[in-house]
Amino acid sequence: MGWTALGLGDNEFALGLDYLKELEKSAAFPFLSANVLYSKDDSYVFEPYVIKNVSGFRVGITAVIGGDTGLRKNEKEVDIYVEDEISSLNRILSELEGKSDFIIVLSHTGFKGAEKLARKYGGVDLFVVGHLADSAHTQPSTVGSSLLVQGPPIGQYMLRLDIAIRNPQRPYNIETVTGKTPGNTIRSSLVVLDKRFAEDPDIQKIENEYKKKLAEYVNTAKMKKLNEGKRDPRALSAKLHYTGAESCRSCHTTQYDFWENTKHAIAFETLEKQDRQFETDCIKCHTTGFRKTGGFEDILTAKDLLGVQCESCHGPGSLHISKGVTPQNFFGEKTCLSCHDPENDDDFQYERDLKIIRCPADN
Ligand code: HEC
Ligand code: HEC
Ligand code: HEC
Ligand code: HEC
Repeated sequence: MGWTALGLGDNEFALGLDYLKELEKSAAFPFLSANVLYSKDDSYVFEPYVIKNVSGFRVGITAVIGGDTGLRKNEKEVDIYVEDEISSLNRILSELEGKSDFIIVLSHTGFKGAEKLARKYGGVDLFVVGHLADSAHTQPSTVGSSLLVQGPPIGQYMLRLDIAIRNPQRPYNIETVTGKTPGNTIRSSLVVLDKRFAEDPDIQKIENEYKKKLAEYVNTAKMKKLNEGKRDPRALSAKLHYTGAESCRSCHTTQYDFWENTKHAIAFETLEKQDRQFETDCIKCHTTGFRKTGGFEDILTAKDLLGVQCESCHGPGSLHISKGVTPQNFFGEKTCLSCHDPENDDDFQYERDLKIIRCPADN
């Protein structure tokens, strides 16, 4: 993909340092971290920075992980640690400043953490922020003379920045492009990673292998045994819990028959068709009650809650059924937007779309 550098985050360590080092060897670009250090001598585990020459303009790139984030690492790996990012940046920036014309910090600290760093270090030209999923900062903002920006999560978009330095005097005072700006400018745009971009066959192969392994794992005898029981009894013991569309059918036949023919009823099959049914990132909106009180944790124990069912809109039904309590009110547009957010449905129109799925009254 033509990468120049990779800033490591906390999750990159989840499969162990040896594995990460292997990946680094096979990559054509450096893995950076200025604050993951070996305990024995405080030396760097990865390269702390890289300087890239862009038409004679020297761009220094370094990366930090928030000190309070820690690493998601194998418990046995006690020989590396995350130094607090302020000490690391103090050291790295004084090295970088003499050698680069532009400094980028890949800041795996969340946006607030990056703002804190920006207030501390005037010398950083651009913070590219990661860590906490956030779509609110795709337009650059400024702290002093530093720019901060963060791409949206889960790989549906790529954030593209075009920076023009016409006046190479620090601080650059880079402005966001609005119409015609004569000075130093930054333009950010979100590129939707849709069908215009062909799948890479090599990556596709890896992904298919991964899906196969995951399905095999979920279906191993051990997992099956774990899941032989019914839904987590703790969930069912919650006073108000999800009971599934089948349990509504006998009294609300009209609405059930209608719902059964909406796309909501087949939302889980849609995931299965793509072999994505085991991915928690997807399950949330394509099932009913995932990780909710009285809902479920594991799809194998929730066969009765797959797809977008009645209780996704009307709330958990146990007390309605057992005690005749009127179901929790339908909250209107807000209910729909919890799933029909701009990332997954950029064309949602409440009035129009409601007409398509609104349950009919009894005949
Ligand atoms: C034993 C029969 C029975 C079952 C089972 C049942 N309901 Fe009902 N439901 C009723 C009756 C009777 C009413 C009308 C009285 C009321 O509003 O409580 C009703 C009303 C409703 C209403 C309209 C409430 C309103 O504000 O007017 C909704 C929505 C509803 N049920 C959803 C469900 C869902 C979802 C399920 C399954 C989880 C379900 N019901 C299961 C009998 C049932
Ligand atoms: C729990 C998540 C969730 C909620 C809540 C939800 N939806 Fe959906 N909706 C989905 C999913 C997922 C699909 C796609 C199903 C598929 O095609 O597999 C969908 C599909 C639809 C479709 C069909 C689109 C098409 O291409 O035909 C309409 C219309 C719709 N939803 C409207 C609504 C409205 C209106 C509300 C609120 C009253 C709502 N939805 C609430 C998740 C949800
Ligand atoms: C925040 C809620 C949400 C999450 C998370 C989510 N979806 Fe959906 N998905 C929807 C909604 C809403 C629709 C219906 C969109 C529409 O009506 O155009 C949908 C539709 C779809 C469709 C059918 C429409 C199409 O584009 O062909 C597929 C396939 C799909 N989702 C796959 C996935 C996968 C794979 C994941 C996990 C990476 C995922 N979804 C995660 C809400 C979600
Ligand atoms: C995508 C959201 C959604 C799903 C899924 C859904 N409903 Fe509804 N349902 C609605 C809306 C919206 C209304 C109209 C409520 C209103 O206007 O206050 C409604 C109305 C109702 C009513 C009252 C009908 C009337 O006017 O007398 C019942 C009963 C009901 N739904 C039962 C169910 C049952 C049972 C299921 C599952 C088989 C189901 N609903 C699935 C959104 C949904």
